[in-house]
Amino acid sequence: MSDVSRRDFLRGATTGAVALGGLSVLTACGGAEGAKPEAESKPEEAKTETKPAEKTETKAAEAEKKVFKQEKFPSAETSPNMNVVTDSETKVGTTYENLLSAIQGETNAKAKYEMYSKIAKDEGFDRAARLFQCTADAEQIHIDLEFDLASKMDSSTKKPEPQLPAEEPTDLNLISGVKGEIYETSDMYPSFIKKAQEEGEKEAVEVFSRAKFAEAYHAERYSGLYAGLGINDENVQYFLCPVCGYIHEGPTDDIEVCPICQAPASSFKAY
Ligand SMILES: [Fe+2]
Ligand SMILES: [Fe+2]
Repeated sequence: MSDVSRRDFLRGATTGAVALGGLSVLTACGGAEGAKPEAESKPEEAKTETKPAEKTETKAAEAEKKVFKQEKFPSAETSPNMNVVTDSETKVGTTYENLLSAIQGETNAKAKYEMYSKIAKDEGFDRAARLFQCTADAEQIHIDLEFDLASKMDSSTKKPEPQLPAEEPTDLNLISGVKGEIYETSDMYPSFIKKAQEEGEKEAVEVFSRAKFAEAYHAERYSGLYAGLGINDENVQYFLCPVCGYIHEGPTDDIEVCPICQAPASSFKAY
């Protein structure tokens, strides 16, 4: 998905249109696929089978149950999981300054995970190598969203250079990943969301919120892999939402749309 279409998708999601749009895309696809077999099937078979339209309706309804309702999408005012940890380490500035801090943090995380991916590959941990690369690409999505918004506020905004930590073995790199993701989801992003709300920067609230929830899932993926590192290393795939950076642990049969932004699961990239 191009940057432009990703932005358009995000804009749609902000207004709630994508919630219906994602499902209507599925509905439209299901309907088109379903119409042909019905026309070709024999009348007696049609009596016993569920009609394609009904199947599509059920599928959409089931998908809807698996995702956040758009009207219940977490916001700084209503969500129960937007609190900032009491020992916060986040330096809060203006929303523009916070965007710059977030871009620096995401840039560091992306470079760090690419380094961790190479280490995991060298150590023979294929699954960890794929998860680190998938997460690095997720952080790039956050960088792009935040940089686009910061550039709208100040066209002279520059992308920063990454800062890398020391190299460690893969098990410790997974723990480092968990710590970073937990910091972002429970400290940095909720702090920035509250400030953006105070300043009435609605697009920043949306961008920070999407990133915050993606980071929570990233922490979960790293933590889950840490416990089983080296066991069943090959048989798991990861799928990246190209809109918000959510990572699904495969297969995608059990998910229709992204639980954060409701982009269709068919648009996810496999690792
Ligand atoms: Fe992350
Ligand atoms: Fe998403």
